[in-house]
Amino acid sequence: MTTQTQQNTENKQGYFGEFGGAFVPPVLEGKLKDLADFFYKTAFTEDFEKEFIHLLKTYVGRPSPLYYAKRLSEHIGSKIYLKREDLNHTGAHKINNTIGQILLAKRLGAKQILAETGAGQHGVATATAAALFGIKCKVFMGAEDVIRQKLNVNRMELLGAEVVSVDAGQGTLKDAVDAALGHYIEHPDAYYLLGSAVGPHPYPTMVAHFQSIIGKEARKQFLEAEGKLPDSIVACIGGGSNAIGLFKEFIPDENVKIYAAEGAGEGLDTKRTAATLNLGKRMIFQGADSLCLADDEGNPAGSFSIAAGLDYPGIGPEHAFLNEIKRVEYHGITDKEAIDAFKLISEKEGIIPAIESSHAVALAAKLFKNKNETVIINLSGRGDKDVERL
Ligand SMILES: Cc1ncc(COP(=O)(O)O)c(C=O)c1O
Repeated sequence: MTTQTQQNTENKQGYFGEFGGAFVPPVLEGKLKDLADFFYKTAFTEDFEKEFIHLLKTYVGRPSPLYYAKRLSEHIGSKIYLKREDLNHTGAHKINNTIGQILLAKRLGAKQILAETGAGQHGVATATAAALFGIKCKVFMGAEDVIRQKLNVNRMELLGAEVVSVDAGQGTLKDAVDAALGHYIEHPDAYYLLGSAVGPHPYPTMVAHFQSIIGKEARKQFLEAEGKLPDSIVACIGGGSNAIGLFKEFIPDENVKIYAAEGAGEGLDTKRTAATLNLGKRMIFQGADSLCLADDEGNPAGSFSIAAGLDYPGIGPEHAFLNEIKRVEYHGITDKEAIDAFKLISEKEGIIPAIESSHAVALAAKLFKNKNETVIINLSGRGDKDVERL
């Protein structure tokens, strides 16, 4: 592994190796540059950190527990710990990032918050943060996702947000991001609160920073429980925010193996997949130079996964880099494998996970079968939103 990785994967502002950057229309260029400057200047001050950590503690309910899953461990044949992001207020990791960004938006005097959402968890977390600070909120969501994640649409509306259903394309997360970016270009005075570690700089850096609380806590909690570091850590990956949140703190620990589960949909050998790191091509997509699923002409292709939060053809640039330098192994998990894991952990542990998080459980069950390893799985969210459909 390179020294650069040991210190920080970001080799210059906004770049991870050759991946990243900010490829946006001129109207947003200055705006994002100002946002990046503001982030670096503000987010690391004592005053900001104090307010962020205070809200994570008193409002979100952090630290989230690191739970030893005994019956699941016996079933798999390895010692499995679950990082319980599902227990956060609003039921997923997304709230860590929205609290961080809303504090930036507040200091910038934003009058309106824009967001995109796939599974609806980021939409709910944004609507929640906006309600907390009394700022207007508009959330773009693909029409297909509005149907498959109905519970979260109702929650966002109850929280006072306007949910805009996007009919374009496949009506999934990619189309929601396009619509949100389009609206942002027309309304550059709004604050765009992006929900994953994707898009133009500074979003991948900011989102990873606010989510890195997951790995910081997990590392400390695991050391307390076991007196050593885990053999392996695992997370599911859509755009990459819960995964990078867990991974960042462990990247310098060369003996800790790192794995991510992407949505393989109907299989890596089909076109109905969302496995960008396994099958994607390098291109500029939604503001960044990274990997993206491509059609036969090399244009961005649609994606497919049963999990709305993983159903995205792009990937954050930091993951494209970690894949390139082989610090993280990215595996595809099919819909069927994820559904089996959804049922497995519900029955073995009394925890109903989000279908996104079930991909990570499925990967761990495959990789660590009778391996006697110690493993942390990031349980990124809870599955209430998926119960009716599965
Ligand atoms: C519970 C849950 N896990 C994972 C994801 C995937 O997003 P990311 O890769 O940014 O963590 C989502 C996205 O909506 C989600 O709701």
